[in-house]
This record gives sequence, C-alpha cells and structure tokens, in this order.
Amino acid sequence: MAINKLVSSIVATAVLACSASVSAATLKLSHNHDRNHPVHEAMQFMAKRAKELSGGSLNVRIYPDATLGSQRESTELLQIGALDMVKSNASELESFEPSYSAFNMPYLFRDRDHFYQVTMGAIGEKILASSEDKGFIGLTYYDAGSRNFYAAKPIQSPADLKGMKVRVQPSPTAVSMVEHMGASPTPLAYGELYTALDQGVVDSAENNITSFVTSRHGEVAKKFSFSEHAMIPDVLVISKITWDKLSADEQTALKQAARESSMEMKELWAASEDKNRKYAEEKMGVTFMSIDKTPFVKSVEPMYVALKKNNAELSVIVEEIRNTGV
Ligand code: GCU
Repeated sequence: MAINKLVSSIVATAVLACSASVSAATLKLSHNHDRNHPVHEAMQFMAKRAKELSGGSLNVRIYPDATLGSQRESTELLQIGALDMVKSNASELESFEPSYSAFNMPYLFRDRDHFYQVTMGAIGEKILASSEDKGFIGLTYYDAGSRNFYAAKPIQSPADLKGMKVRVQPSPTAVSMVEHMGASPTPLAYGELYTALDQGVVDSAENNITSFVTSRHGEVAKKFSFSEHAMIPDVLVISKITWDKLSADEQTALKQAARESSMEMKELWAASEDKNRKYAEEKMGVTFMSIDKTPFVKSVEPMYVALKKNNAELSVIVEEIRNTGV
C-alpha cells in the first residue's frame, strides 16, 4: 500500500476510535522495533505498572514493528491526537523539537552513568517538557546503548568513511556529524534500511548492537566497528491531546510507570547487548572490532565550536550536560 494511503487509512481509523480510545483510557502506543527488542519488554512493564498504579483505569496497547507508521508518521499522528503514545528517539524528535538535538551531539556522554544522570535528572525532564507547544510531551527515556558504524568493510578511522554513503536518521545533527567525519549522509527511515544496505543504496549505517541484530542488518553488513560516536536516548512521548484528557491521578500514575520502566530497561539493555553480540558473532558471522576513537572525536570538534557560535541557547544546555557529574 502506498504510504500516503496507509497513513490516511490509519488516521481515519484512529480518528474514529479516538474519543472512544481516551474515554475508555486505552492508549495506543506505536514503535518501530519488533517484540524481541528490550524496549518492547520495557514498555510492556510500563503498561502493566500504569494499569496497577491507576487502579485499572489506564490500559496501554502496544503496536510494534511500525505497523501504525514509521516514527515520523507516528509522531505526526500523535500531534493531531490520532495516536496516543509513540516510542521514538532523540534523533527523530530533533526535527519536531530542537531541544532534543542536544542529545545528538557526538561524543557527548562520557559513559552510561553520565547518560543516566542527565536523562533521569533535571536536564532530561526539562527537555521532555519542552515539546508541549508542538503537541506532545515526553514521559521518559530508554537506554539505547551507543551507536557504531557497520558496513561490508571495517571502518577504523574517518579516512575509511571517505566516499561512503552512510544512512543516518532524519536528524540535522546526524547529517552534520557524518559530513564532519568525511562521508555522505543519506537520511532514511529505519524500516527502509535493510533493503538499502542489501541493494547498495547506502554503504554503511550506524546503530546499537541490539537494533543491528533485531533488524537483521548483520545479515548484510558483517563488520561492526566500535566508534561509539553517540548515545542517543529512545524517548517515550504522549500526545498533548491525550494527556489533557487524563485525570491528574492518571497522569501521575503514567509518569511513575514510565520512569520505573526506564529503570527496568537499564537491566534489560545490558543483558540484551551481550546476548545480541553473541548471536551476531555465532549465527550471522559478524566481526566486532575495537578501534582508536581519537580521530573520530577530533573530526567532530568543530561541531561544538559552531554550536557555540550559532546557537547560544542550545550550547548552554550542551555545556550543562557535559558538566554534569564532573
Ligand atoms: C534505534 C532507535 C530507534 C531508531 C533507530 C534508527 O534503534 O531505538 O528508535 O528508529 O535507532 O536508527 O532509526
């Protein structure tokens, strides 16, 4: 089905169901991973806790595999209230709410502890709240590890990226990062990437180990290089229209369930990276390579200089993030 037709049919169905959906407090949640991805499990936990904490009035129904549309399409449906919740990530949300671009700066977080201090602390909350005027509100973040390049050949330095077409998410910061590293960025939706890699439309992509395996990219890109160039949080967001229809108690219950599920995800994530790395090595024949990250770090330093010069507000947030916990 053509994508426009698909989207209009989803909108029609969802709009019809919309008033019923909220008055019965069944919240539809869309995301683009499969059921084996830990974020699906974390959100099942969230749904269970939301039901318990609201005394049964909140029911979250999860639609995986982008069946209700890509992340971008789902977020657009969310803005008009045709969908209740979406699990997206900071890269995708950047073009809806610029504050999210802070998280997309390369080599921003020192390690996982730093990532958790920021995302679960005051800065994280401020960014979640920042999109209210865009028609949605962030509820929580989910760990999505670090992102790394993969291709048919090893990528050990920016020199190896020269002349390569690298798929990026539709995020201006990701585009700029790949340009600074010397490659040609090709923005594509996640669901189109397997075929694009397989058919040579792009030469390389970048993601975390778990998504690399659950999306089967390891079948078509056998060299995975630990550039660890970004830790981009997944983000659970809710339509402002839906949020305003919930009672204050339901809002509190949902927010608490969401935060608890992020802590659940912390455990699930670490286990999933180990499991998926083993699977990729043993069943997909993927080689994982440690590399010297210094030349990659150096190649993107001008991005921080440019940010300071061109976007004082965002630069302050980025500095606050960098200074957290030091
Ligand atoms: C991660 C993230 C997704 C995103 C994907 C991508 O897997 O969890 O939300 O869509 O990266 O690269 O598009």
